[in-house]
Amino acid sequence: MPATILDGNTYASQIKSEVAEEVRRLTASGVRPGLAAVLVGENPASQTYVRSKVKACEELGIYSDLITPPESATTEELIEIVEQLNARDEIDGILVQLPLPAHVDSKRVLLAVSPEKDVDGFHPVNVGNLSTQRPALVPCTPAGCMEILKRANIAIEGQEAVIVGRSDIVGKPMAMLLTNANATVTICHSRTKNLPEVCRRGDILVAAIGRPGFITTEFVKPGATILDVGINHITDPVLFERFFKGDEKREKQFAEKGRTIIGDCDPRVVRMAGAVTPVPGGVGKLTIAMLMGNTVKAARMRRLTAVEAVAPSA
Ligand code: GUN
Repeated sequence: MPATILDGNTYASQIKSEVAEEVRRLTASGVRPGLAAVLVGENPASQTYVRSKVKACEELGIYSDLITPPESATTEELIEIVEQLNARDEIDGILVQLPLPAHVDSKRVLLAVSPEKDVDGFHPVNVGNLSTQRPALVPCTPAGCMEILKRANIAIEGQEAVIVGRSDIVGKPMAMLLTNANATVTICHSRTKNLPEVCRRGDILVAAIGRPGFITTEFVKPGATILDVGINHITDPVLFERFFKGDEKREKQFAEKGRTIIGDCDPRVVRMAGAVTPVPGGVGKLTIAMLMGNTVKAARMRRLTAVEAVAPSA
């Protein structure tokens, strides 16, 4: 039986409408959540991402402020911008869009973000709070993966979870979240021996390596749940044929645009898995919804008293 497709659009709309409801409630009590996005230079992909984030704020009633320093901005200038945002009471979340220009020390800029406003969950204080099971702002992509598992009623406790990729943004926080939810977690990476064999242990397999179609059926335990975090653009016709030959919709798209998007999984994993997130239309759809959720959570944690902050959706 082919795998269940875990539709990111459905979950993202559910989450967004829950967040919008909470924004209404908070705004009515005098606390309108606000997000500041810092977009440095003119990277087209970053511009697209940030535009989507600002648009999502508008849809949900979250105040937003877009700050666009030039490509030439120095580390010190960006730290100054972040510090000014730290001091503004109406700003609950600060998002510094990555990558920053090569001459900027990204780690120093991210460290300047107040942990209370760190809606990306990148600050070491939030990393530490997550790993010690304290209240934390959690990175959006792994948080979105957990929401998919929860909303699709996929068991986590006692299950084997295998994560391929050890990035600070996805692999490591994902391992923490799954560990905190009582899975038995293995993190794999480029030096892991017998990778397909290790991956085949996974009742839950998280693919977060950034290599197009890398995870093939050979890596998949029959019936496993696969969360495909990869977003890779392919333009090479040979690669296209390897993954999508016979898929009419993709063939039409590739003929028109000369490119398509593929995850870290070979599309044929659907034959082996129990449930799979598609690319596009899977995990990626939840990332912005979770950012909105983090902005509201940051507003609640910083601006409400302990009693008021006990929210229905916690
Ligand atoms: N660039 C690519 N992904 C991300 C993300 O999750 N957060 C930020 N700030 N920048 C990114």
